[in-house]
Amino acid sequence: MVSEWQSSESSKQLKQLVEAVRASRKYRFLSAEAIAYVGARELARRADLGEAIKVTKRRLHQIAGMYLAREPPYARWLEELRLARASGDEEQLRAVCRRVMSWHASTRERLAVLSTFYERLLADLPSVKRVLDVACGFHPLALPWMPFFRTGGSTCYYYACDLYEDLASFLQAVLEVLGVPGEATVCDVVQAPPNLTVDLAFVLKVLPCLEHIEPEAGLRLLQAIRARYLLVSFPGQSLGGGKRRMAAYYEERFRSLVADCNWRLERFTFPGELVFRIEKE
Ligand SMILES: C[S@@+](CC[C@H](N)C(=O)[O-])C[C@H]1O[C@@H](n2cnc3c(N)ncnc32)[C@H](O)[C@@H]1O
Repeated sequence: MVSEWQSSESSKQLKQLVEAVRASRKYRFLSAEAIAYVGARELARRADLGEAIKVTKRRLHQIAGMYLAREPPYARWLEELRLARASGDEEQLRAVCRRVMSWHASTRERLAVLSTFYERLLADLPSVKRVLDVACGFHPLALPWMPFFRTGGSTCYYYACDLYEDLASFLQAVLEVLGVPGEATVCDVVQAPPNLTVDLAFVLKVLPCLEHIEPEAGLRLLQAIRARYLLVSFPGQSLGGGKRRMAAYYEERFRSLVADCNWRLERFTFPGELVFRIEKE
Protein backbone atom coordinates (compact mmCIF):
# COMPACT_ATOMS: atom_id res chain seq x y z
CA MET A 1 0.00 0.00 0.00
CA VAL A 2 1.23 3.52 -0.79
CA SER A 3 1.62 5.45 2.47
CA GLU A 4 0.52 9.06 2.83
CA TRP A 5 4.18 10.07 3.13
CA GLN A 6 5.09 8.27 -0.10
CA SER A 7 2.25 9.85 -1.99
CA SER A 8 3.03 13.38 -0.77
CA GLU A 9 6.72 12.77 -1.56
CA SER A 10 5.87 11.67 -5.12
CA SER A 11 3.58 14.63 -5.72
CA LYS A 12 6.39 16.91 -4.46
CA GLN A 13 8.79 15.24 -6.90
CA LEU A 14 6.30 15.58 -9.75
CA LYS A 15 5.88 19.29 -9.02
CA GLN A 16 9.68 19.70 -9.05
CA LEU A 17 9.89 17.80 -12.32
CA VAL A 18 7.25 19.99 -14.00
CA GLU A 19 8.99 23.16 -12.76
CA ALA A 20 12.40 21.91 -13.95
CA VAL A 21 11.09 21.05 -17.43
CA ARG A 22 9.20 24.35 -17.76
CA ALA A 23 12.33 26.25 -16.67
CA SER A 24 13.95 25.32 -19.97
CA ARG A 25 13.35 27.78 -22.80
CA LYS A 26 12.20 25.02 -25.12
CA TYR A 27 9.35 23.85 -22.87
CA ARG A 28 8.33 27.01 -20.99
CA PHE A 29 5.02 27.24 -22.91
CA LEU A 30 4.29 23.52 -23.00
CA SER A 31 1.13 22.41 -21.17
CA ALA A 32 1.99 21.69 -17.51
CA GLU A 33 -0.64 18.91 -17.50
CA ALA A 34 1.07 17.17 -20.41
CA ILE A 35 4.50 17.44 -18.75
CA ALA A 36 3.03 16.07 -15.51
CA TYR A 37 1.40 13.15 -17.35
CA VAL A 38 4.63 12.14 -19.08
CA GLY A 39 6.72 12.92 -15.99
CA ALA A 40 4.57 10.84 -13.60
CA ARG A 41 5.10 7.76 -15.74
CA GLU A 42 8.84 8.33 -15.81
CA LEU A 43 9.01 8.95 -12.05
CA ALA A 44 7.12 5.72 -11.43
CA ARG A 45 9.84 3.84 -13.34
CA ARG A 46 12.87 5.21 -11.46
CA ALA A 47 13.73 6.75 -8.11
CA ASP A 48 16.15 9.37 -9.39
CA LEU A 49 14.47 12.75 -10.02
CA GLY A 50 17.29 14.08 -12.22
CA GLU A 51 17.10 11.02 -14.44
CA ALA A 52 13.29 11.27 -14.64
CA ILE A 53 13.58 14.92 -15.72
CA LYS A 54 16.08 13.96 -18.42
CA VAL A 55 13.91 11.13 -19.81
CA THR A 56 10.76 13.30 -19.65
CA LYS A 57 12.49 15.96 -21.75
CA ARG A 58 13.58 13.30 -24.23
CA ARG A 59 9.98 12.06 -24.59
CA LEU A 60 8.62 15.60 -24.94
CA HIS A 61 11.19 16.17 -27.66
CA GLN A 62 9.87 13.10 -29.52
CA ILE A 63 6.24 14.20 -29.31
CA ALA A 64 6.53 17.97 -29.72
CA GLY A 65 9.96 19.62 -29.34
CA MET A 66 11.56 18.09 -32.43
CA TYR A 67 9.13 19.78 -34.83
CA LEU A 68 10.15 23.32 -33.86
CA ALA A 69 13.86 23.97 -34.31
CA ARG A 70 13.81 27.55 -33.03
CA GLU A 71 11.50 29.84 -31.07
CA PRO A 72 8.82 31.09 -33.47
CA PRO A 73 8.52 34.89 -33.99
CA TYR A 74 4.75 34.90 -33.47
CA ALA A 75 4.34 38.68 -33.03
CA ARG A 76 6.16 39.45 -36.29
CA TRP A 77 4.15 36.84 -38.20
CA LEU A 78 0.87 38.24 -36.91
CA GLU A 79 1.85 41.68 -38.11
CA GLU A 80 2.71 40.28 -41.55
CA LEU A 81 -0.55 38.35 -41.70
CA ARG A 82 -2.57 41.44 -40.74
CA LEU A 83 -0.85 43.53 -43.42
CA ALA A 84 -1.37 40.83 -46.05
CA ARG A 85 -5.03 40.47 -45.13
CA ALA A 86 -5.56 44.23 -45.20
CA SER A 87 -3.98 44.39 -48.69
CA GLY A 88 -6.82 42.21 -50.02
CA ASP A 89 -4.25 40.30 -52.06
CA GLU A 90 -4.92 36.60 -51.50
CA GLU A 91 -1.56 35.58 -52.96
CA GLN A 92 0.26 37.79 -50.45
CA LEU A 93 -1.73 36.22 -47.61
CA ARG A 94 -0.91 32.73 -48.85
CA ALA A 95 2.78 33.63 -49.15
CA VAL A 96 2.93 34.64 -45.47
CA CYS A 97 1.02 31.48 -44.45
CA ARG A 98 3.51 29.35 -46.39
CA ARG A 99 6.42 31.08 -44.67
CA VAL A 100 4.91 30.43 -41.25
CA MET A 101 4.17 26.79 -42.10
CA SER A 102 7.76 26.26 -43.19
CA TRP A 103 8.85 26.79 -39.56
CA HIS A 104 7.20 23.58 -38.32
CA ALA A 105 8.62 20.36 -39.76
CA SER A 106 5.21 18.78 -40.32
CA THR A 107 3.62 21.57 -42.33
CA ARG A 108 6.92 22.24 -44.11
CA GLU A 109 6.80 18.72 -45.57
CA ARG A 110 3.30 19.44 -46.94
CA LEU A 111 4.04 22.75 -48.68
CA ALA A 112 4.77 21.19 -52.05
CA VAL A 113 1.36 19.49 -52.24
CA LEU A 114 -0.88 22.17 -50.72
CA SER A 115 -2.59 22.99 -53.99
CA THR A 116 -3.93 19.45 -54.43
CA PHE A 117 -4.02 18.13 -50.85
CA TYR A 118 -7.43 19.50 -49.77
CA GLU A 119 -8.94 19.25 -53.22
CA ARG A 120 -8.31 15.52 -53.34
CA LEU A 121 -9.29 14.89 -49.74
CA LEU A 122 -12.28 17.17 -49.33
CA ALA A 123 -13.85 18.07 -52.67
CA ASP A 124 -16.41 15.25 -52.68
CA LEU A 125 -17.51 15.59 -49.03
CA PRO A 126 -20.93 16.94 -48.08
CA SER A 127 -20.89 20.48 -46.71
CA VAL A 128 -18.40 20.91 -43.87
CA LYS A 129 -19.56 23.32 -41.15
CA ARG A 130 -17.47 22.30 -38.15
CA VAL A 131 -13.85 21.19 -38.20
CA LEU A 132 -11.57 19.84 -35.50
CA ASP A 133 -7.79 19.94 -35.94
CA VAL A 134 -6.15 17.83 -33.21
CA ALA A 135 -2.47 18.23 -32.34
CA CYS A 136 -2.60 20.85 -35.06
CA GLY A 137 0.91 22.33 -35.02
CA PHE A 138 0.86 25.10 -37.66
CA HIS A 139 -1.77 23.36 -39.82
CA PRO A 140 -4.50 26.05 -39.36
CA LEU A 141 -2.26 28.29 -41.49
CA ALA A 142 -3.31 26.07 -44.40
CA LEU A 143 -6.90 27.34 -44.10
CA PRO A 144 -6.61 29.54 -47.24
CA TRP A 145 -6.16 26.32 -49.27
CA MET A 146 -9.20 24.58 -47.78
CA PRO A 147 -12.45 24.57 -49.75
CA PHE A 148 -14.56 25.95 -46.88
CA PHE A 149 -12.32 29.05 -46.54
CA ARG A 150 -13.85 32.31 -47.84
CA THR A 151 -11.73 35.46 -48.21
CA GLY A 152 -14.66 37.64 -47.18
CA GLY A 153 -15.28 35.62 -43.99
CA SER A 154 -15.80 31.88 -43.56
CA THR A 155 -18.85 30.42 -41.91
CA CYS A 156 -17.20 27.12 -41.05
CA TYR A 157 -16.21 26.80 -37.34
CA TYR A 158 -12.60 25.68 -36.82
CA TYR A 159 -11.44 24.20 -33.51
CA ALA A 160 -7.68 23.61 -33.19
CA CYS A 161 -5.63 22.29 -30.30
CA ASP A 162 -2.03 21.47 -29.45
CA LEU A 163 0.24 21.37 -26.41
CA TYR A 164 1.77 24.87 -26.45
CA GLU A 165 0.19 27.91 -24.78
CA ASP A 166 1.97 30.47 -26.99
CA LEU A 167 0.96 28.53 -30.12
CA ALA A 168 -2.70 28.51 -28.98
CA SER A 169 -2.68 32.32 -28.50
CA PHE A 170 -1.03 32.78 -31.89
CA LEU A 171 -3.52 30.51 -33.66
CA GLN A 172 -6.46 32.22 -32.00
CA ALA A 173 -5.21 35.52 -33.45
CA VAL A 174 -4.59 33.83 -36.84
CA LEU A 175 -8.21 32.63 -36.99
CA GLU A 176 -9.35 36.19 -36.31
CA VAL A 177 -7.05 37.64 -39.00
CA LEU A 178 -8.25 35.04 -41.50
CA GLY A 179 -11.87 35.76 -40.61
CA VAL A 180 -12.55 32.17 -39.57
CA PRO A 181 -14.81 31.66 -36.55
CA GLY A 182 -13.21 29.23 -34.15
CA GLU A 183 -11.07 28.47 -31.15
CA ALA A 184 -7.46 27.48 -30.60
CA THR A 185 -6.75 25.89 -27.25
CA VAL A 186 -4.17 23.97 -25.25
CA CYS A 187 -5.24 20.36 -24.90
CA ASP A 188 -3.46 17.09 -24.27
CA VAL A 189 -5.43 14.71 -26.45
CA VAL A 190 -3.95 11.69 -24.68
CA GLN A 191 -5.57 12.74 -21.41
CA ALA A 192 -8.75 14.37 -22.74
CA PRO A 193 -9.91 14.23 -26.35
CA PRO A 194 -11.79 17.39 -27.40
CA ASN A 195 -15.40 17.17 -26.37
CA LEU A 196 -17.33 18.37 -29.42
CA THR A 197 -19.12 17.05 -32.47
CA VAL A 198 -17.82 18.03 -35.90
CA ASP A 199 -18.24 17.13 -39.57
CA LEU A 200 -14.53 16.66 -40.18
CA ALA A 201 -11.49 16.02 -37.98
CA PHE A 202 -7.87 16.40 -39.03
CA VAL A 203 -5.61 13.92 -37.22
CA LEU A 204 -2.55 14.62 -39.33
CA LYS A 205 0.72 12.86 -38.47
CA VAL A 206 -0.40 12.62 -34.86
CA LEU A 207 -0.73 8.92 -34.05
CA PRO A 208 3.02 8.10 -34.10
CA CYS A 209 3.60 10.94 -31.58
CA LEU A 210 0.91 9.76 -29.19
CA GLU A 211 2.13 6.20 -29.31
CA HIS A 212 5.48 7.37 -27.92
CA ILE A 213 3.53 8.08 -24.73
CA GLU A 214 1.00 5.24 -24.72
CA PRO A 215 0.58 2.51 -27.36
CA GLU A 216 -3.24 2.56 -27.02
CA ALA A 217 -3.57 6.34 -27.18
CA GLY A 218 -3.98 6.48 -30.97
CA LEU A 219 -6.97 4.16 -31.27
CA ARG A 220 -8.54 5.64 -28.14
CA LEU A 221 -8.38 9.11 -29.73
CA LEU A 222 -9.85 7.95 -33.06
CA GLN A 223 -12.71 6.27 -31.24
CA ALA A 224 -13.37 9.28 -29.01
CA ILE A 225 -13.50 11.88 -31.78
CA ARG A 226 -17.10 12.61 -32.69
CA ALA A 227 -16.79 13.32 -36.41
CA ARG A 228 -18.39 11.86 -39.50
CA TYR A 229 -15.11 12.08 -41.40
CA LEU A 230 -11.56 11.85 -40.06
CA LEU A 231 -8.39 12.45 -42.04
CA VAL A 232 -5.64 10.45 -40.40
CA SER A 233 -2.17 10.73 -41.86
CA PHE A 234 1.34 9.39 -41.45
CA PRO A 235 4.68 10.78 -42.54
CA GLY A 236 6.07 9.17 -45.64
CA GLN A 237 9.60 9.77 -44.50
CA SER A 238 11.46 10.37 -41.26
CA LEU A 239 12.55 13.85 -40.21
CA GLY A 240 16.10 12.88 -41.10
CA GLY A 241 14.90 12.16 -44.65
CA GLY A 242 15.19 8.35 -44.53
CA LYS A 243 12.23 6.45 -45.98
CA ARG A 244 13.01 3.04 -44.49
CA ARG A 245 9.68 1.59 -45.59
CA MET A 246 8.06 3.97 -43.17
CA ALA A 247 4.77 4.44 -45.01
CA ALA A 248 4.35 0.66 -45.41
CA TYR A 249 5.03 0.14 -41.73
CA TYR A 250 2.51 2.81 -40.69
CA GLU A 251 -0.10 1.50 -43.10
CA GLU A 252 0.14 -2.05 -41.78
CA ARG A 253 0.02 -0.85 -38.20
CA PHE A 254 -2.92 1.50 -38.84
CA ARG A 255 -4.99 -1.12 -40.67
CA SER A 256 -4.57 -3.62 -37.86
CA LEU A 257 -5.37 -0.92 -35.28
CA VAL A 258 -8.76 -0.11 -36.86
CA ALA A 259 -9.54 -3.62 -38.16
CA ASP A 260 -12.43 -4.13 -35.71
CA CYS A 261 -13.89 -0.64 -35.99
CA ASN A 262 -16.19 -1.18 -38.95
CA TRP A 263 -15.32 2.20 -40.47
CA ARG A 264 -15.17 2.94 -44.18
CA LEU A 265 -11.56 3.64 -45.19
CA GLU A 266 -10.11 5.35 -48.24
CA ARG A 267 -6.41 5.70 -48.91
CA PHE A 268 -4.65 8.67 -50.52
CA THR A 269 -0.95 9.04 -51.15
CA PHE A 270 1.02 12.25 -51.51
CA PRO A 271 4.76 12.71 -51.76
CA GLY A 272 5.85 12.57 -48.11
CA GLU A 273 2.43 11.75 -46.59
CA LEU A 274 0.00 8.84 -46.51
CA VAL A 275 -3.59 9.77 -45.65
CA PHE A 276 -6.58 7.63 -44.67
CA ARG A 277 -10.05 9.08 -44.86
CA ILE A 278 -12.30 7.41 -42.31
CA GLU A 279 -16.08 7.63 -42.56
CA LYS A 280 -17.59 6.68 -39.23
CA GLU A 281 -21.30 6.53 -40.07
C1 LIG B 1 3.95 15.62 -36.25
S1 LIG B 1 3.27 17.10 -35.63
C2 LIG B 1 1.79 17.24 -36.59
C3 LIG B 1 1.26 18.64 -36.68
C4 LIG B 1 0.04 18.82 -37.59
N1 LIG B 1 -1.02 17.92 -37.25
C5 LIG B 1 0.45 18.62 -39.04
O1 LIG B 1 0.31 17.52 -39.57
O2 LIG B 1 0.93 19.58 -39.65
C6 LIG B 1 2.67 16.56 -34.10
C7 LIG B 1 2.01 17.66 -33.29
O3 LIG B 1 1.31 17.03 -32.23
C8 LIG B 1 1.41 17.81 -31.07
N2 LIG B 1 1.15 16.87 -29.97
C9 LIG B 1 1.89 15.82 -29.58
N3 LIG B 1 1.31 15.17 -28.57
C10 LIG B 1 0.14 15.82 -28.32
C11 LIG B 1 -0.90 15.63 -27.36
N4 LIG B 1 -0.85 14.64 -26.48
N5 LIG B 1 -1.95 16.48 -27.37
C12 LIG B 1 -2.01 17.50 -28.26
N6 LIG B 1 -1.03 17.74 -29.18
C13 LIG B 1 0.02 16.91 -29.21
C14 LIG B 1 2.82 18.38 -31.15
O4 LIG B 1 2.99 19.53 -30.36
C15 LIG B 1 2.97 18.65 -32.66
O5 LIG B 1 2.58 19.96 -32.98
